[in-house]
Amino acid sequence: MKTVSKPTTSETLPGGKFKLADDLVLTRVGYGAMQLAGPHVFGPPADHDGALAVLREIVRLGINHIDTSDFYGPHITNQLIREALHPYPEQLRIVTKVGALRDADGNWPKALAPDQLRQAVHDNLVNLGRDALDVVNLRVGGLDTPEPGSIAEPFSVLAEMQQEGLIKHLGVSTVTAEQVAEAQSIAPIVCVQNFYNIANRQDDSLIDSLAEQGIAYVPYFPLGGFSPLQSNTLSSVAARLDTTSIAVALAWLLQRSPNILLIPGTSSVEHLRENVAGAGLQLSEEVIRTSGVGPKNNE
Ligand SMILES: NC(=O)c1ccc[n+]([C@@H]2O[C@H](COP(=O)([O-])OP(=O)(O)OC[C@H]3O[C@@H](n4cnc5c(N)ncnc54)[C@H](OP(=O)(O)O)[C@@H]3O)[C@@H](O)[C@H]2O)c1
Repeated sequence: MKTVSKPTTSETLPGGKFKLADDLVLTRVGYGAMQLAGPHVFGPPADHDGALAVLREIVRLGINHIDTSDFYGPHITNQLIREALHPYPEQLRIVTKVGALRDADGNWPKALAPDQLRQAVHDNLVNLGRDALDVVNLRVGGLDTPEPGSIAEPFSVLAEMQQEGLIKHLGVSTVTAEQVAEAQSIAPIVCVQNFYNIANRQDDSLIDSLAEQGIAYVPYFPLGGFSPLQSNTLSSVAARLDTTSIAVALAWLLQRSPNILLIPGTSSVEHLRENVAGAGLQLSEEVIRTSGVGPKNNE
């Protein structure tokens, strides 16, 4: 079965919607904007108009969830989002993250001091052209792995800014289950954004516990990030279904748990359409049973 791109609306996107809060009902198929900046997420994109076209296509497809950060570029990705989509459609929600910077060498140093977090929230407000941010994730941890330890101090800074009306909802990223609980003891969270995909299932129990609480789990690198996802099981299932590994990887995430939201990244309109269509692939019980691509089967 080939995945075919069909016109979609927010009502017909694969996976439907997930309610994180009364004013935050997101299409489960979202979009991650990191790939819109230049090479290595640094500087402007080679194809400025192409980046704007991707963002406009997102809205046209009915997607209402864009994931971003002001440290992509830095600033560039948010400025592209604003240029392409401001004034924003009423239903669009933009989720951003703070807690890191880019240095002159393109590294990602942490920026978790109170003044750095406050500055980052203000930079997001300015570059996105908003009076308040829909969701801000506190980004802690390493490149793709959580680091144990208290996050109370930086999370409290964001909780204060929420009280000040600059942030509507809070989330956390690259965290352990203990850090999730610590954040929740300070202020409610609506989402957790961690590294997870069909071949990296270290968060299976966290996903289940967040699902019970009605909290969204938003996996980053759903397609493997900077190195394309490679798995023999994935390839064999894709071959068996006459589709792509990307379609299987995205569809699997949607079917893994109802609280999983997709934010695959792409700088290509064509790939964006393919990803939306691919997420709609139905993996039958029989395929899941006989392929080993089950929710709890670590490869
Ligand atoms: N919280 C965090 O610490 C954190 C960390 C990393 C990422 N994120 C978020 O998660 C989002 C997703 O992660 P990601 O973008 O790094 O990785 P990803 O979604 O796993 O993969 C993106 C890569 O896949 C390629 N791709 C996408 N669709 C494709 C298709 N249909 N066919 C072929 N190639 C395709 C893209 O290239 P093309 O551009 O050529 O399509 C890009 O190289 C990011 O955009 C960002 O918003 C968060």
